[in-house]
Amino acid sequence: MFAVHLLAFHFTKLKEDQITKVDRFLHQLRLSDDVLQDVAARFQAEMLKGLARDTNPTAAVKMLPSFVRSLPDGSEKGEFLAVDLGGSQLRAHQVRVSDDGKQSSQLESKFYPTPKEVTQGNGAELFDYIADCLSDFMDTRNLKQKKLPLGFTFSFPCKQTKLDEGVLLEWTKHFRVRGVQGTDVVSSLHRALQKHQDIDVDVLALVNDTVGTMMTCGYDDPRCEVGLIIGTGTNACYMEEMRHISLVEGDEGRMCINTEWGAFGDDGALDDLRTEFDRELDLGSLNPGKQLFEKMISSLYLGELVRLILLKMTKEGLLFNGKVSAALLTKGKIEMKHVSAMEKYKEGLSNTREILTELKLFPSEEDCVAVQHVCTIVSFRSANLCAAALAAILTRLRDNKKLLRMRTTVGIDGGLYKTHPRRLHPSTTRVPAGLALSPRAQLQHPASPKCLMRAELEYGLKREAQGQATVKMLPTYVCGMPDGTEKGKFLALDLGGTNFRVLLVKIKSGRRRSVQMYNKIFAIPLEIMQGTGEELFDHIVQCIADFLDYMGIKGARLPLGFTFSFPCRQTSIDKGTLVGWTKGFKATDCEGEDVVDMLREAIRRRNEFDLDIVAVVNDTVGTMMTCGYEDPNCEIGLIAGTVVAKWPLREGSTYVEYEKMTSGMYLGEIVREILIDLTKQGLLFRGHISESLRKRGIFETKFLSQIESTCEDSIIVKEVCAAVSTRAARLCGAGLAAVVEKRRQNRGVERLQITVGVDGTLYKLHPHFSRILQETVKELAPQCDVTFMLSEDGSGKGAALITAVAKRLHNGDPEHLSDL
Ligand code: BG6
Ligand code: GLC
Repeated sequence: MFAVHLLAFHFTKLKEDQITKVDRFLHQLRLSDDVLQDVAARFQAEMLKGLARDTNPTAAVKMLPSFVRSLPDGSEKGEFLAVDLGGSQLRAHQVRVSDDGKQSSQLESKFYPTPKEVTQGNGAELFDYIADCLSDFMDTRNLKQKKLPLGFTFSFPCKQTKLDEGVLLEWTKHFRVRGVQGTDVVSSLHRALQKHQDIDVDVLALVNDTVGTMMTCGYDDPRCEVGLIIGTGTNACYMEEMRHISLVEGDEGRMCINTEWGAFGDDGALDDLRTEFDRELDLGSLNPGKQLFEKMISSLYLGELVRLILLKMTKEGLLFNGKVSAALLTKGKIEMKHVSAMEKYKEGLSNTREILTELKLFPSEEDCVAVQHVCTIVSFRSANLCAAALAAILTRLRDNKKLLRMRTTVGIDGGLYKTHPRRLHPSTTRVPAGLALSPRAQLQHPASPKCLMRAELEYGLKREAQGQATVKMLPTYVCGMPDGTEKGKFLALDLGGTNFRVLLVKIKSGRRRSVQMYNKIFAIPLEIMQGTGEELFDHIVQCIADFLDYMGIKGARLPLGFTFSFPCRQTSIDKGTLVGWTKGFKATDCEGEDVVDMLREAIRRRNEFDLDIVAVVNDTVGTMMTCGYEDPNCEIGLIAGTVVAKWPLREGSTYVEYEKMTSGMYLGEIVREILIDLTKQGLLFRGHISESLRKRGIFETKFLSQIESTCEDSIIVKEVCAAVSTRAARLCGAGLAAVVEKRRQNRGVERLQITVGVDGTLYKLHPHFSRILQETVKELAPQCDVTFMLSEDGSGKGAALITAVAKRLHNGDPEHLSDL
């Protein structure tokens, strides 16, 4: 049994180390929300460039008019043929549409391969092959005697002047067929079909696969006005106002625009985000310098991207004992299907071992964990980038309609979207919300931060402000402080800081009053942080199970306190509805849900042990309780911490939120931006901006702490660090001053003695942060004597204490019952 515990512990630790190693190696591939918003903003600008007649010739994103003017309205009827070239296979379809009052369509299909001779041969052979396949299909479906209209889905950029004509601008993906570029593909298909005397089809429409997808979905849902493909390639189309399309005559109504977003970045617009791996992949592709956005997203490329990363990591001795195999050196050996298999939720790790073994790489356990994480990072970047560009389209649609909020449907198709274990993340819906700056974002008061904070505190407490206040002022239902009579064994969870911990807290009362703690740290992998809510809570319960096993207490039904350091709206001490994720967590289906219920359900699903979840608490509250146990004067909890994830600021952004100016997670990035600025002005590094300084996230906040204390030769850099952290500490101090001053006035006293429980790495490790914070509070709240008490034990202990207090109060201590 002991061996099992040791093994479990070893594995968790191992996982953590590997994940940190890969995160560090691939930090450039991990895009923060701010970067993604920036990508969305850049894509919006690209769309404008492509739509306008004078800028279109030099635009990378071509915004091609499709001559599709309306969505199906249900009155369509008849029998049609369709042939679909450009995805993973060639597809032939027979479609029967009836408007028999029920509006229905029927589809019969047959798939044909597209071997290299077809995709990289000559034009005549390609069109003959398509015509042969169609003839074969009509044969199998007994359609040869019928005269049928045909829709030709041709998933490549085509310049159209009408619905049944399209000149191929460029081959993309795995196609490079000679003699087709610059010619009309409809007439080529027509010529090839004429060679078949026994069939009579009329090519009526040429459509891109995005347009076809939008129309297919539009048939079932009239709100559908966007088509999206995430497969071998990636692209999107949407309905644009005619008055904005200067390439086509007429101002009335709308027309579907095939954006051809795969080419986003071909003019260098994404160069700062492309990594050495993207550049290498591009150089080895059929079309170097082209379709750069697509090469970061679609299934044709992701496997190769993973291979290039693994190769470099191996050469640097980070994987497989530094031993490269012939297979790993071979282009195309890792495909998307392998990446998906390695990322599977449950079997992922064993799939990874199998795949790596086939590549003759002899992986260790560590290698498998690391490789799996590489795949996750590559896929996440793909989904995130896709979401950012989609967000730009959605924002444009909304702006076109002059709406504040818009409900719409996106039709999606493509192998990657359909078969990858994690679907395109709904962060999509988050990006446009962020783009539309909340009206309260630009506070224009000339007043000081303390006055502003004070006003926000008052506003947040008002009933009518609920949902609108920027400072939320969330009631916690923690009404009593520990009084020393609490006792018993409690479990605590601490989620939302740098680490996830599970704790066992033993509290003794009376003369032997003491608190003993046992805790274990667990990793929350990125794919779980950003997977589904069910996966996240299953993982948490798995960690609890490991911990209970480890401590040998699986049978005991212990009361549990849950430190959940995200904004929650509580209606009682054990009910907390997540308002919105922060700090890099994005698990789906959690926002708006009660996290205690989600935890209870996950425990039920596992059906292995039971726990009595008594309280859900924020880390600030936990910290206040931890310190309150020692000092009854403690009435405030404060966290000035650093979170592992790096979220750089948007360049050129004019507004930064309070947290971004004060918390450790952001300070390094602010310093980096200032250093770049000073360098550009020639004030630093002889005006030369080094490659590494250009890298977002390179400047970690911990450097700030180190530089300020040790680096003597670079006075300017040191000054910048000092200015940034001083601002953070003073802003934090101003906020705190507003809080203590409010306490003093509430109590109606001339002077207030009060203790603040504090935790967080920035407060603990930075050489001056705590001093400046304290001085600021003293300066701004001169009538308050504030003692700062460092919480050495973390907020988990506080969660256990809250649980203990709640239990004590609940068990009928008459003195406190009214508190509950
Ligand atoms: C198919 C569509 O379902 O998806 C095609 O019918 C499209 O038109 C394709 O090109 C894209 O996905 P994949 O994975 O086949 O490239
Ligand atoms: C490529 C093509 C585009 C197509 C997409 C998805 O980007 O250029 O036309 O829609 O792949 O198949």
